Amino acid sequence: MKSDSDKKHNKNGKNKDKKFTREDSARDEPKSDRSSSASQKKSDQIKMAVITGASSGIGLALAKQFAKNGSNLLIVGQSEDIYYTQECLEEEYEVQVTALRANLATFQGVEKLYQTIQMMRRPVDAIAVNAGIGVSGNFIYDTDLYDELDMINLNITSLVHLSKLVAWDMARRGRGRILFTSSVAALSPVSSMTVYSATKAFVLSFGEALRDDLKDTGVTVTVLLPKARDTDFFDRDTMDKEDEPDDSEKDDPDDVAEKAYEALIKGEDHVMIGSSEDLEDKGFITKFLTSQKQAKSAGDSAESKS
Ligand SMILES: NC(=O)c1ccc[n+]([C@@H]2O[C@H](COP(=O)([O-])OP(=O)(O)OC[C@H]3O[C@@H](n4cnc5c(N)ncnc54)[C@H](OP(=O)(O)O)[C@@H]3O)[C@@H](O)[C@H]2O)c1
Repeated sequence: MKSDSDKKHNKNGKNKDKKFTREDSARDEPKSDRSSSASQKKSDQIKMAVITGASSGIGLALAKQFAKNGSNLLIVGQSEDIYYTQECLEEEYEVQVTALRANLATFQGVEKLYQTIQMMRRPVDAIAVNAGIGVSGNFIYDTDLYDELDMINLNITSLVHLSKLVAWDMARRGRGRILFTSSVAALSPVSSMTVYSATKAFVLSFGEALRDDLKDTGVTVTVLLPKARDTDFFDRDTMDKEDEPDDSEKDDPDDVAEKAYEALIKGEDHVMIGSSEDLEDKGFITKFLTSQKQAKSAGDSAESKS
């Protein structure tokens, strides 16, 4: 017997339950809100937020921001630490927190998260797709292929999978806020973080294009581009300690989360964290602005052809 999840994805990757087919979207078109101020105000109320990778670091700091602002939470992590985070958040803030332990680097892990969202029977007003890991070291001599494939599964595949499910639901409701955690490493190839920086470039490119795809639906996409943060990121065993910046170069994840939350609420397209001099020095800003222009002109020319 086929499970619900099997029905959604046949072996060609097409949705059997027509969740994303053109016929279905014609019947049940996502609402277009060329936002009236009233609906904009309503859409600012985040009653329920989902945060992935919330057991530590930037995700935990984001969870605190949402909780501080009165959102109930569904938080996701891979280790048992997520239950401890749940306890702490519930103790500190007067909000309901549901914790889910799932390996989002697997297809089943993402489906388990989506099933949990559905079982909660509360619409998701905001989602921070933040869980991510790094692998560092020379691609030829140091790194392990399986670590890199696992990272691609988490940083890219699960993000696309989850977006497909949640963005559709948001578009159908005519409101929602999506935050993707990319990195300044997305803006320039980074040797010794060869695959990692490419995964983060994917997140940035995907986020910008999805934002445009969703432009008439009332759903916004914001891409967060932090630089090195003081989190568990560099402690994981896929990371080469030599690639870790000095502590003086790292910032506090709470500052990142605060700025990211503000940008999300305003519906901004991206938030880049790090001093502008530092980012300009590295040529990051120029490259980012160029890529934004290219994305827009590619979108415009695709539209004019159709
Ligand atoms: N720290 C930096 O310098 C930096 C800079 C730029 C961008 N970023 C990005 O920021 C995001 C958060 O990183 P962080 O710095 O906060 O690192 P972190 O402290 O290591 O947090 C990573 C989070 O992701 C979760 N996670 C890892 N693998 C998972 C899996 N397979 N399934 C589900 N959850 C998983 C972890 O859960 P468990 O702990 O329970 O395993 C943890 O909650 C990542 O996307 C990273 O690429 C970080």
